[in-house]
Amino acid sequence: MDLSVSFRHPNATDLPKINRLYRREYGDAYPYQLREDDLVSGIAFVAVAHGEVVGCARAIRPNPATPVFLFGGMIVDPPHRRHHIAKALTDLRFDAVTRAGARVVATEPVCCQPSRASQRNMIGNGFVPLGILPAKYPDIKPETLGDQPESLTFAIRWLAGDVSVEGRQLHLDDRLLHLLHETSASLSASADGSRRMCGLMPAPEHHEPMRGTRADGSAFVDVPANWPESSAAIAEFERNGYVACAFLPGLGLTDCGERHDFVRLVHARGRRVRFEHVHVTEHLVPFKEYLAERCGE
Ligand SMILES: CC(C)(COP(=O)(O)OP(=O)(O)OC[C@H]1O[C@@H](n2cnc3c(N)ncnc32)[C@H](O)[C@@H]1OP(=O)(O)O)[C@@H](O)C(=O)NCCC(=O)NCCS
Repeated sequence: MDLSVSFRHPNATDLPKINRLYRREYGDAYPYQLREDDLVSGIAFVAVAHGEVVGCARAIRPNPATPVFLFGGMIVDPPHRRHHIAKALTDLRFDAVTRAGARVVATEPVCCQPSRASQRNMIGNGFVPLGILPAKYPDIKPETLGDQPESLTFAIRWLAGDVSVEGRQLHLDDRLLHLLHETSASLSASADGSRRMCGLMPAPEHHEPMRGTRADGSAFVDVPANWPESSAAIAEFERNGYVACAFLPGLGLTDCGERHDFVRLVHARGRRVRFEHVHVTEHLVPFKEYLAERCGE
């Protein structure tokens, strides 16, 4: 670590510099810039060298009722890269969210970099990659992606123990069980099927597409995976143009207060994705091949 770099929370006067870093990386149309409201609604850190902001990263709690935090918005000024600034920003966020009661942290590292730098940083920090979110964020890197929204990977880290389905039974067909096994053998091994869920299967949770200026992002749906009717519900979405794209272990909560698992599906009907712009680490190559076969160009 460069000793001239220090870390602190950002203030409103840092925003133009932080947003310049995002625009320089992702293009002038980058629509997800940091606003003053974001400074109060989440946890953020900046890295400062010689009085200049040279990096930023955030953590938010999307639903205050659940102990799941989301890491995002990480950026380091190119001349300062590879000096462990991202690593330090990630350690600081882990300390902060742990103090705020986090049990799980999710993150969605970008796929547009051939170096896969962000994915590798997250894996180095204990995250387990569990899927790909094809064409989620519009208006990013148009010189590379054109109208195609940026794809992300999906990864989580449990702060207490390993990522696991804790013995819950997964009602998935053999094709998805095989994909889960190829994605995370340890997660697949933890689904020993001995635990039954209380109550009825919760309704699938829909995620609306992000709206862009040139194209819209993909729509997603999370289908509960631990009930006998789960595989039929997934098959019905598949018949309607959806494709399984990620596993979300333990991120659902039943009315009885019991954790459950989801399979996330992307609505791929009418969208062909150019997967040559979707760079993933070796962990997610089987998932990329699975998706490319079903919604690739
Ligand atoms: C991703 C990014 C934040 C990394 O910042 P950084 O300060 O250079 O990263 P660090 O020096 O802390 O490296 C941490 C780990 O990330 C990985 N990494 C970083 N840069 C890498 C590269 N060019 N190639 C491969 N792995 C890389 C390595 O695993 C590294 O650990 P190591 O040094 O022990 O090998 C920076 O490259 C960046 O801003 N990229 C553009 C924006 C972006 O992708 N943001 C993340 C959005 S999800």
